[in-house]
Amino acid sequence: MSDKQTTGFVGWMDERFPLTKLWEDHMAKYYAPKNFNFWYYFGALSLVVLVIQIVTGIFLTMHYKPDGDLAFASVEHIMRDVDWGWLLRYMHSTGASFFFVVVYLHMFRALMYGSYQKPRELIWIFGMFIFVALMAEAFMGYLLPWGQMSYWGAQVIISLFGAIPIVGEDLTVWIRGDFVIGDATLNRFFALHVVAVPIVLLLLVVLHIIALHEVGSNNPDGVEIKKNKDENGVPLDGIPFHPYYTVKDIFGLTVFLIIFSAVVFFMPEMGGYFLEHANFVPADPFKTPEHIAPVWYFTPFYAILRAIPDKLMGVLAMFGAIAVLFFLPWIDRGKVRSVRYRSTSHKLLLAMFIVSFLVLGYLGALPSTPARTLAAQVFTAGYFGFFIGLWWISKNENTKPVPERVTW
Ligand code: HEM
Repeated sequence: MSDKQTTGFVGWMDERFPLTKLWEDHMAKYYAPKNFNFWYYFGALSLVVLVIQIVTGIFLTMHYKPDGDLAFASVEHIMRDVDWGWLLRYMHSTGASFFFVVVYLHMFRALMYGSYQKPRELIWIFGMFIFVALMAEAFMGYLLPWGQMSYWGAQVIISLFGAIPIVGEDLTVWIRGDFVIGDATLNRFFALHVVAVPIVLLLLVVLHIIALHEVGSNNPDGVEIKKNKDENGVPLDGIPFHPYYTVKDIFGLTVFLIIFSAVVFFMPEMGGYFLEHANFVPADPFKTPEHIAPVWYFTPFYAILRAIPDKLMGVLAMFGAIAVLFFLPWIDRGKVRSVRYRSTSHKLLLAMFIVSFLVLGYLGALPSTPARTLAAQVFTAGYFGFFIGLWWISKNENTKPVPERVTW
């Protein structure tokens, strides 16, 4: 029960369920720093995209057939015959790409403002598990339309596990459920994409937000607002999440939906980046497409894989590029959170990381040539160099004085 006496239906509920208490603890009396900026839209937007994916996914599942002989045609049936089916499908495929857009921006914000630092390590770790689950979800979803790129993309990625010594080959058969990608693979990917991974994702998002509300949000200054409280224990630099940030997030959501709709209605394929051209051709196990590239959100990691000539080392580097992010809270030994008050070396390192990530993303989408492989090697070094450099400089960094109170 809340300390406020409630009556009527809410009062009836409060005697049986902490309705008002939950509302107050997480909305009306949850104090968030008053200096949130543009970068703080993307958490709420990730939630919105998650809901879009689940809702459109449920309706797609009503018409989709997870069967090697029927899958491709069932997607065409959704596009042509099912009422509003094209809208459901384009919302879902565009939603997948937008999920990564908002999540990458959300992660970048955490990098800029040191949001992963103490005491927010767990928020970051849960976030990283979300990121991995999201990649698995997208990878398995991509097999479902059973187009050429679905088939061969999965073929390339699953065969990577074959590089693992001793168990590798058996592992690939175990994952596929067959010696090649086949009906068994499609069926299990469907089950995982539609049921298992979404449950894990939802659970992780709940844990992510519980951890966030336990310690409270960081902010662009990296100042701990809980250090300065008034006589009622309310942070002086905090404002209630509701109505201030609900209104701000509704504004962000409106802008987001305008952009999202523009893509859904006018350029759902996004020139082959959101829906690859080769995927409009049914899967053919006897015909390898000329150029196999994953969807754009995987290309930075794919470029790292291809940059290294040895298959096993490439696989390790690719997984290592994701794994290293988990350790960020301990790699960064700095005391100052926000990039605003950190050293020039830190700013340069962060810039190097972002440039490397973007260039790798670009290279990963193109067929490889010797020059591009060399470039990918340089930027792979830039990617990992960020973590090494950060660990190195953050111990005794030359930082600027952090203000006592937030600035805005
Ligand atoms: C489904 C995906 C995700 C959802 C729905 C989600 C949701 C949220 C929300 C609502 C917030 C508070 C609002 C905000 O700070 O923007 C937040 C904060 C945060 N998230 Fe996420 N998140 C997701 C993925 C991730 C990922 C992949 C990471 C990093 C690996 C991450 C790291 C963080 C961090 C560090 C904060 C605290 C930021 C701060 O206080 O400055 N999140 N998240």
